[in-house]
Formats: sequence, C-alpha cells, structure tokens
Amino acid sequence: MSSSVSHPTPRHVAVIMDGNGRWATARSLPRIAGHREGAKAVRRIIEAAIDQGVGYLTLFAFSSENWQRPAEEVTDLTFLLKHYLRSELNELHERGVRLRVIGERERFGPNLAEELETAEAKTAGNTKLTLVMALSYGGRADIVGAARRAMQAGVKPEELTEQVFAGFLSTAGIPDPDLLIRTSGEERISNFLLWQIAYAEIVFTPVLWPDFGAKDFGEALNEYAKRERRFGARPV
Ligand code: IPE
Ligand code: IPE
Ligand code: MG
Repeated sequence: MSSSVSHPTPRHVAVIMDGNGRWATARSLPRIAGHREGAKAVRRIIEAAIDQGVGYLTLFAFSSENWQRPAEEVTDLTFLLKHYLRSELNELHERGVRLRVIGERERFGPNLAEELETAEAKTAGNTKLTLVMALSYGGRADIVGAARRAMQAGVKPEELTEQVFAGFLSTAGIPDPDLLIRTSGEERISNFLLWQIAYAEIVFTPVLWPDFGAKDFGEALNEYAKRERRFGARPV
C-alpha cells in the first residue's frame, strides 16, 4: 500500500478530552461533576476503539499546565484518577487492554505512581488495545526529557537521527497517532504530543467531552477515512 493512501481505520487515535468544566457549568454543577461524567465517556470511547479495531488509543487526561488550576480541582482530579484506576483495572485487563502511562506520574505522589506502574505491569501482555494515558504530560517536557536521556545514554551527535530520538521519547515503541481528536470546540494543541502528531489528521468537534460517545467517535473515524494523507509527497 502506498503511504499516500489513507487507511480506512486509524491504527492510533489520540484524544484531547476537553470541555468537562463547561459541561458542568452549563448545568450549574461543580466542575468535578463534569470530570466524573468525563470518566464515563472514557469508558465508552475505550469500548468504541476496541469495537472499531483501533490498536492504540491515547487520552490526554491531565496536562503539565493543569497543575496551575485551583488546588481543589487538582485534588478532585487526582482522587478521580485513583478511583478510576481501581474500579476499572480488572475490566480493562479482561478486555485485553494494555495500559501505558506517559507524563510525569511522580508528581501525583509515590502511591499513585506506584499503582500506575503495577497496572502497567499487570496488563503488559495484553494485545487488544494499547491505552496510553497522558498524565501530567507536556509535549515540550517530553522532547526535553528525550534529549536528556539521549545525552545520558551517550548518543553521539552524528548518531542522533529522528528514529533514534523517537526511541527516547515517552512514546517509544508506539506508532505516531494517525488521527487526533479535540472535543469542546477549542482548536489548539495545548502542549499535547508535539513531536508525534507531525502528520496526524486533526478533527475538531464542538461536542463537550462528557457528551462524546461511540457515535461521535465513529463520525471522527469516518472523517479520517475521507482524508487524503500525503506526508509531503506528490499527490497520486
Ligand atoms: C478537560 O476539561 C479535562 C482536563 C483538562 C483535566 P476541562 O476541565 O478543561 O473543561 P473546560 O475546558 O474548562 O470546559
Ligand atoms: C488540554 O485541555 C488538557 C487536557 C484535555 C487534559 P485544557 O483545557 O487544559 O487546555 P487549554 O487551557 O484550553 O488550552
Ligand atoms: Mg479545557
């Protein structure tokens, strides 16, 4: 297959899950209510990804910059994350989901960081879907971290290729996203995967994340299937 022909199903879908706060505010509810409803959408989209035969699903759940939010919201989000992990892990495992976490997990404290590690180890052999959770993730920090690790590994300047460098990013071994979806009508990247989305197709949807369902996911996949990917090459 020529690289300029788009594949009907993206191998890797990345999602900026945005709009939880606005969903709650529109209902006169506290923001945490929107985050809780957002967690339900996560469940739906994991299922939809499996149903559609997507191999990798990356979810932006908490950015490096989200630490700047009021302490109360950060505490609520951390609590929700812990709760989600504990209540969903067994089911994810049974469904054949392999969990992988990217971002500075240590910032959530040693307990949660360790729980995340245990969850990754438990699900490491699963092959149905790789679920990449971006937690305290920043695209720039990822790139700087990769540069540091490459230097620490003693990579010589002349040995540093794009391929070698990618191997030092937090996403090493994961194919680049084919499709990036952002919900809530915002049309920006907000320091998500910067290196990795070089040639991703982008779909922006006005749907707020807590309202996002299998149908919306399917529509984004349909939109993707219509795109002609060129990767800079001459159109066929
Ligand atoms: C996305 O929803 C979830 C996180 C960033 C943690 P927001 O909390 O950003 O919701 P809005 O953008 O304020 O509506
Ligand atoms: C991006 O959303 C981060 C996540 C979805 C986790 P934000 O709501 O934090 O981004 P901005 O502030 O609108 O750019
Ligand atoms: Mg937001």
